[in-house]
This record gives sequence, C-alpha cells and structure tokens, in this order.
Amino acid sequence: LGSPKEDAKRAAAYLAVDENLNVFSHNVIGVGSGSTVVYVAERLGQYLKDLKFKDYMSKAVCVATGFQSKQLIIDNGLSYGIIEQNPDVDIAFDGADEVDYNLQLIKGGGACLFQEKLVSTSAKTFIVVADSSKRSPRLLGSNWRQGIPIEVVPPAYVRIKTKLLNEMGAVSVVLRQGGKAKAGPIVTDNNNFILDADFGQIDSPAELHEKIKLMVGVVETGLFIDNAAKVYFGNSDGTVEIQT
Ligand code: A5P
Repeated sequence: LGSPKEDAKRAAAYLAVDENLNVFSHNVIGVGSGSTVVYVAERLGQYLKDLKFKDYMSKAVCVATGFQSKQLIIDNGLSYGIIEQNPDVDIAFDGADEVDYNLQLIKGGGACLFQEKLVSTSAKTFIVVADSSKRSPRLLGSNWRQGIPIEVVPPAYVRIKTKLLNEMGAVSVVLRQGGKAKAGPIVTDNNNFILDADFGQIDSPAELHEKIKLMVGVVETGLFIDNAAKVYFGNSDGTVEIQT
C-alpha cells in the first residue's frame, strides 16, 4: 500500500493491537505519539467499527501522550479521556527511537517525552511498536539527532547543558530547534524545551537516567527503563518480530 517503511510500521502496529488488546476488559488504553502509532490508532478505530467488538470498544477511553496523540484518538472516532480521570491505564502502545536487547528504550524523538513516560509508566502493560531499524544491541542514541532527548524547564537549559557536558560525559548537547517550521527552540506539549544529549554508546542506561533526572530543571529523560513488556518490530515484507 505505502512505502516499505510504512508497511513495516503498519504490520507491527496491527499485530501488537491484535495480540495484546483485550476489548472485553481493557477500559483505559494509552495511545502514544509518532508515525508508527498512527497505525495503532487506525487499528483501534477498526475495532470500533467491528460489530463483534463495537459495544465494548465504545466504552473504552483512550488517554493521549501529547497533542498529536489526542488528534489520532479523535480522528479515529475513539473516546478521548484525560489521564487525571483515568490514571490506571490497562494497556499502552507507543513507538520508540531505539530499543536494546534488554528492552530499554530511547524515546522523545517527536518531543512528546514527559507525557509518554507518564502514560507508559501508568500502564499495566506497555507495548512498543517500531520498524526493525530501531533495533540495536546497545543504546547508541544515534537513531535520532545523535542523542538522548531530555525535557527541561526552559530557564534551566543552559545550566543543564553545561553540567551534561562538563560533569556527565556528554560529547554534545543541542537545544532542539524548530527548523523551518519554527524559528528558535521547539516547545513541548508541556511548554518545556528538549536538549538532545549525545553520550555515544550507553552501557548503563538506568544509571545514566537516574543521574540526569536528579538535575534541577530536568522534567524527564528519553531513557525508558524497565518499562516495555514487549516490542513488535515490523519488516517491510509484512513479517513482525517480537522481542520480550
Ligand atoms: C515521540 O516523542 C517519540 O517518542 C516517538 O514515539 C518515537 O520518536 C517514535 O516515533 P516513530 O514511530 O515516528 O519512529
């Protein structure tokens, strides 16, 4: 239908939903951000139209990880709910920028970091969908802008950048810019900035996450530690590999 990459993403997303969604008991569903999750939302929308599942599916509430995610929920006819009213998420689906052999992730390429972590860590089961290019033995941080995205409160960005470079071993730290779409830094859904910090190969993601998180002004890091239950990697021929 689409490009080989899109076929891979769709295959992963559809299978992830089909294998993990229990329409009869999953009342709160997390819908993530990015280009792969588009197909998760599409699949959920198909369940809503299916006579077998319609009644159950129409009772389910979907919580979002950002504005794009909210749009996906609405555009596919799903019920949107806020996480404050639905804090116990049954299952969440989201994409990733990089996945290592221990299911540790780098996320935040689309700058939806904080809410993505809130939803994924609120979920009983967190399922990741990606094309197979996201697979890596160790986290290299090189799949997206050469680094780990870190969401920071704006006035703290200079101090955090300096500490990352001088005390924590980052080789480069860039304040993410809007490029042609926006002059100046991009602003997240929570009105924060994103620093992309390149640490080269990351041998201890949990340790690095904890160290970064302790800095004043850091809202979240793009290292998602011990969070994913399963990752669905799609290939362009429509096959899907599952990592648990
Ligand atoms: C958004 O901030 C990200 O965490 C995305 O989930 C991640 O970048 C994956 O996006 P794609 O599915 O578009 O690769």
